[in-house]
Amino acid sequence: MEKAIEVNNLYKSFKLGKESVEVLKNINFTIYKGEFLSIMGPSGCGKSTLLYLLGGLDNPTEGSIIVNGRDYGNMKEKEKSRMRRTELGFVFQFYNLVPNLNVEDNILLPILLDGKKPKAYAKKLDEILDIIGMTERRKHTPRELSGGQQQRVAIARALLFEPELILADEPIGNLDSKSGMEIMKLFKTINKKYGTTIVQVTHSNEAASYGSRILNLRDGEVEKDELSA
Ligand SMILES: Nc1ncnc2c1ncn2[C@@H]1O[C@H](COP(=O)(O)OP(=O)(O)O)[C@@H](O)[C@H]1O
Ligand SMILES: [Mg+2]
Repeated sequence: MEKAIEVNNLYKSFKLGKESVEVLKNINFTIYKGEFLSIMGPSGCGKSTLLYLLGGLDNPTEGSIIVNGRDYGNMKEKEKSRMRRTELGFVFQFYNLVPNLNVEDNILLPILLDGKKPKAYAKKLDEILDIIGMTERRKHTPRELSGGQQQRVAIARALLFEPELILADEPIGNLDSKSGMEIMKLFKTINKKYGTTIVQVTHSNEAASYGSRILNLRDGEVEKDELSA
């Protein structure tokens, strides 16, 4: 199996004044391509910190992270930022949509920001609108949509460049459980259809059961790492 992410002897601490707080301690694991992993654990145990490190959004204090065969430690900031834009998809708890842009333009935002022509992505746009079940609402603005629908748009935006890896930090943390499970089904569809590797942080056992593997963190250490039933 091909590796999507390799984490070796990872440590992360934050300086608060003179004190240094060790948030992640000697984390080691490998995620293979096509896995759907859920990171779980109590609030404050370092889940978001780990996810941001996996996305190259922050640097470890010690240790290495290798994504798609490339070690963040050997990459320039510019290369990392390019990789984030073109190979990774990020999904957050609070959707991060632009309120006065409609669904289509919110999805196409990475292309508009890149100065590329949206026309070249017309077919891709139709395809992902269909996957998220929002074809009929493509001209609506976020305020006309439910939370679950807004999160679908955010996921569609993350799919635009056909990322190999999607990183989602509590994607259903703000949704009722029915809408949340629909988002989980959508992730599962994406995982199966495109073979996209998915890593999500979640507090919900039910949500985690949609994935293939659960990594439990406790006090900054891996407590348990097992395939889900
Ligand atoms: N930028 C930061 N500066 C200082 N402390 C931080 C920073 N980011 C996170 N922390 C601390 O690291 C710990 C883990 O945070 P986090 O990864 O957000 O936890 P989780 O997502 O599991 O709830 C917390 O104690 C938090 O206060
Ligand atoms: Mg968090």
